[in-house]
Amino acid sequence: MQNLLITGGSGFIGLNFIRYLLTETDFQGRIINFDKLTYAATPKSLTDISEHFPDRYVFIRGDIADSSRLESAFDSYCVDSVCHFAAESHVDRSITGPGEFINTNILGTYNLLEAVRERHDRIVLFHHISTDEVFGSLGAEGYFTEDTAYSPNSPYSASKASSDHLARAYHKTYGVPVKVSNCSNNYGPYQFPEKLIPLVILNALEEKPLPIYGDGKNIRDWLYVRDHCTAVWEIMKRGTIGQTYNIGGSGELENIKVVETICDLIDDISGKPTSVDSRRELVNFVEDRPGHDRRYAIDSGKLKGELGWEPEETFSSGLLKTVNWYLNNPDWVQHVRSGEYREWIERHYG
Ligand code: NAD
Ligand code: TYD
Repeated sequence: MQNLLITGGSGFIGLNFIRYLLTETDFQGRIINFDKLTYAATPKSLTDISEHFPDRYVFIRGDIADSSRLESAFDSYCVDSVCHFAAESHVDRSITGPGEFINTNILGTYNLLEAVRERHDRIVLFHHISTDEVFGSLGAEGYFTEDTAYSPNSPYSASKASSDHLARAYHKTYGVPVKVSNCSNNYGPYQFPEKLIPLVILNALEEKPLPIYGDGKNIRDWLYVRDHCTAVWEIMKRGTIGQTYNIGGSGELENIKVVETICDLIDDISGKPTSVDSRRELVNFVEDRPGHDRRYAIDSGKLKGELGWEPEETFSSGLLKTVNWYLNNPDWVQHVRSGEYREWIERHYG
């Protein structure tokens, strides 16, 4: 992996992965970050990386749905491996506008697979990043394993399921060196504040209402983003071609519990709120999300057993790091929330 193309490297998980690879691992090659810079991208978060690693980090603004731009990136930088994070990723947006999800998640993945297939003599890995949401919803018992049948319920998860099937089909049919990982809900630094945890942290700090869909008893299995990064890197280095690995944090919690924990933590760190006695009073139950999956829970036994991976953070330790990160990075928050980041992108990338 000398010339690793990372798609979606300016989004939440991709940029954490690039930071991790370049600053914490034995990776010696070059990263080519290929990103369209949608509303979800904050490329300014990688300015220090491009300054510190001018020879090992390259950014290309491009759309994976645009095959000619993609192919020219593959050839200009002699790409020999791919880690594919780029996606439309927010379930609520997929409900109001599924078109972009089909375009990026399905068509974009198809273009990438084709580009890799055409360069099969030099490409050693196509790592496809996916989600546990492809498995659908669990009842009160049980876990998703690598053998669980796909049953996606939202346009987002259906588009990701489709891309997973394409990736596996390209391995079986054409021998493309594919690995797939399906991860549970991530949280941590640089997450765009439309997702539950950063949204609640920022609203709680400002004493704004905390919207909870339905009865708040939906369960997600939370994983700190750096633990996702360590898992992906282990799989990229030592996982078996053609295999799928589930990644989860054993961090199952009801949404209401997540929100209450954040409220208590911020009451402790920042002091009591002024408008209410406790931030828990800011909780606001709102109309449920259509097709809202009830419970996700991952069995990571294969990853742990075969590759010895373990997450480093518990939900409490990861959440504390996350809250502190948002508290210590008001400039990033202001940059994103004011919309100034869009102007920054246009100034730098046109
Ligand atoms: P994100 O929405 O924060 O970032 C997505 C990135 O992809 C952005 O930088 C965006 O500009 C880029 N992008 C979007 N469309 C593109 C296109 N057509 N061409 C090139 N770049 C494009 O997403 P994230 O939360 O960082 O998720 C990354 C990946 O991880 C996705 O594939 C997602 O399905 C998967 N995943 C996410 C989670 C989670 O909890 N966030 C959990 C499991 C799996
Ligand atoms: P989200 O962060 O959007 O991730 P996903 O839908 O991919 O799991 O949502 C996590 C959970 O939080 C999910 O059950 C929906 C719920 N949720 C709320 O209750 N309120 C909110 O404002 C948001 C964004 C999510």
